[in-house]
Amino acid sequence: MIKAFNAEKKLEKRFATLNEKLRRTLNRINRRYMLAHPLSELLGTIVIAVLLWFGGVLILENHSSINAAEFIYYLVIFYSIINPAKDLSKAGYSVQKGLASLERVDKILKAENTLSEPTLPKEITSFNERIDFKNVNFRYQTDWVLQDINLTIPKGKTVALVGQSGAGKSTLVDLLPRFYDVTEGEILIDGINIKELNTKDIRSLMGNVNQEAILFNDTFFNNIAFGVENATLEQVMEAAKIANAHDFIMATENGYETTIGDRGSKLSGGQRQRISIARAILKNPPILILDEATSALDTESEKMVQEAIEKLMMNRTTLVIAHRLSTIKRADEICVMSEGKIVERGKHDELIALNGYYKRLYDMQSF
Ligand SMILES: Nc1ncnc2c1ncn2[C@@H]1O[C@H](COP(=O)(O)OP(=O)(O)O)[C@@H](O)[C@H]1O
Ligand SMILES: [Mg+2]
Repeated sequence: MIKAFNAEKKLEKRFATLNEKLRRTLNRINRRYMLAHPLSELLGTIVIAVLLWFGGVLILENHSSINAAEFIYYLVIFYSIINPAKDLSKAGYSVQKGLASLERVDKILKAENTLSEPTLPKEITSFNERIDFKNVNFRYQTDWVLQDINLTIPKGKTVALVGQSGAGKSTLVDLLPRFYDVTEGEILIDGINIKELNTKDIRSLMGNVNQEAILFNDTFFNNIAFGVENATLEQVMEAAKIANAHDFIMATENGYETTIGDRGSKLSGGQRQRISIARAILKNPPILILDEATSALDTESEKMVQEAIEKLMMNRTTLVIAHRLSTIKRADEICVMSEGKIVERGKHDELIALNGYYKRLYDMQSF
């Protein structure tokens, strides 16, 4: 991006400014720090010299109430006190430095996890009936992002969300695995509020394929087997075949042992997405969350992956967000979202007949 927008100069300047500020601050600190030692040494020596001279004069002229031996004794004690006193002032400096760091570390250590785990979680090992969103309202900061969401997803059905970007679709599906907590209302799985369940249990029921495929700098094998313990190569291959990823994986140098670079940087967008679909296939969860899972694919591979996804969706409960409406025609219910609200809902044909928001979206996409 920096190169493409010819912004090297701008960023160099930003770096130089920051660097210069750091240099000046460090110089100031070091100058004082380095000066402190010789200065205190000098002051200490001057004090001793003055004491020696003044005390010496008093004793030699016999004006003093102590004798020479006692005076030397006194000098030795005074001299041994100087060093600890200097250390004390140095400690003050270190304490201040430590406090500044503590403040920053404390911010992280004391950060509160806003999701509270229930103390006595109810148990859930399988998903049997349905998911309910009841009067759900949600906001990240001040503005409501979701309002009055009421939605039921019966087991085995597919519910699709459509709507322009920023409508709140991703936010809505993020509430289900409890990445965020609802602000008002509740979400129930088989009639149990998800706040009463262990988040680990909830998430083990779900598989996500996201808009942005999140991959790790690791091998194909480890990226696909990510959510499953002790997966075998056969299982991973099987999943990759269903996701139409097997062929391009085998075409790489080390096959499944090839590393894919940071966040999958050595792959194309479509390949990345197919890996994350294979990951979901391998996990084999009862609930599937697809957030624009095919958006990074070209039309041809989308067709292939669409087949894979349809196989994956069979006998499964699916919450799917799609920007291409052709992919969700067969959904059991389509919810059209706009500005955080569900404005239309129904089957494809019903929504077309309604001649509203959905119809407009649909017309825009068909030539
Ligand atoms: N982490 C976040 N913090 C604050 N606001 C957010 C965050 N994520 C999304 N939003 C806002 O919430 C709204 C809905 O976003 P999103 O659910 O991603 O929309 P969609 O998936 O439908 O395109 C947007 O206005 C967006 O700016
Ligand atoms: Mg989104």
